[in-house]
Amino acid sequence: MEKYQLYTTMGVGFESVVAKELQAMGYKTHTENGRVFFTGNETDIVKTNLWLRTADRVKILLKEFKATDFDTLFNQVYEIDWAELLPVDAKFPVKGRSVRSKLHSEPGIQSIVKKAIVNKMSDQYHRRGFLPENGNEYPLDIHINKDIARLSLDTTGASLFKRGYRIEHGGAPLKENFAAGLLKLTPYDGSHPLIDPMTGSGTFAIEAALIGKNIAPGIWRQFAFDGFDWFDSTIHNELVAEAKNKIKPLEQPIWACDIDQSILEIAKLNANNAGVLQDIYFKQVAVKDFATDLQNGVIIANPPYGKRLKDRESAENLYKQMGDSLLKYDSFSQYYLVGDPAFEKFFGKKATKKRKLFNGNLRVDFYQYWARKK
Ligand SMILES: C[S@@+](CC[C@H](N)C(=O)[O-])C[C@H]1O[C@@H](n2cnc3c(N)ncnc32)[C@H](O)[C@@H]1O
Repeated sequence: MEKYQLYTTMGVGFESVVAKELQAMGYKTHTENGRVFFTGNETDIVKTNLWLRTADRVKILLKEFKATDFDTLFNQVYEIDWAELLPVDAKFPVKGRSVRSKLHSEPGIQSIVKKAIVNKMSDQYHRRGFLPENGNEYPLDIHINKDIARLSLDTTGASLFKRGYRIEHGGAPLKENFAAGLLKLTPYDGSHPLIDPMTGSGTFAIEAALIGKNIAPGIWRQFAFDGFDWFDSTIHNELVAEAKNKIKPLEQPIWACDIDQSILEIAKLNANNAGVLQDIYFKQVAVKDFATDLQNGVIIANPPYGKRLKDRESAENLYKQMGDSLLKYDSFSQYYLVGDPAFEKFFGKKATKKRKLFNGNLRVDFYQYWARKK
């Protein structure tokens, strides 16, 4: 089977987390800003799309070259044997990005790449410039960084955060791969209890249950590679069947609590879609009244963040309630994702460690309080 140069993309700051996931799957990795590279064949493309919990996408690097003018860009793209990669009816959107490069017009870059492919395919398929583009999608992207162009084929399609278990609603849930990435920054592996006292739509609890039960996060969905006509379609079915056999029972309880019963109902629907409804205890309780007999686990939450003054006051009050209620459970490692730099002051304890992150565009901190084991 052909070996490809592959890479994954991910959210800012999660390179090492994704690299560790790939290494645990047996791949040798090389990390750059926003990308982790590895090599593999079609089976590896399926396996990584199916199993990576914290990445955004898996891409095939088709070609890397220097391009400081549009002629070079055109010629380098034209040289590729496109008919081997794209059938005559392929839909092939091209996404362009340029950073610190002579070729900086992204629409210009996109249209030159598109034109080079259309010209080459028209020559190869004897179509004289007309391609129907009404078949399956082959998403391409061209990324030029400091004049070095990378042309890639996206094997994932809709980002890997779209597991397929979430029902749409108006709240502000964490992205699934972001929540999984945060869980990977904790010691959680299913062998200890996990509690989210402000669970919202349940993302931490559900992702934790998937980790604890060894459920592949991509088990419910399709990927762009499913539509590639040269891709061996039996591999995906085989690896899904294999993944289903690897599911194991959850060893330790997961609790998902929230003050709001209506959001808990959404969390339950999501958990049901993910096949982990029976694995999670849901409870309506305000954090100030939270109590547990469990020990030696992980508490993780992202409390609401107040932007306006009135909201801020209530957020600060809530952080204080969290401190009063949760700090006494010091056999738990505790992790809070908060967009308020004054969190520690109101929570009542300085974090063992803080990690700067972005939740979308919002600059946040991941406050980590390490446990005293009992
Ligand atoms: C930012 S959301 C959590 C989002 C969640 N991580 C997700 O992915 O869906 C914050 C949650 O805290 C809950 N909350 C607010 N005040 C609370 C309180 N006093 N006790 C418990 N939960 C509270 C809200 O109902 C909301 O669901």
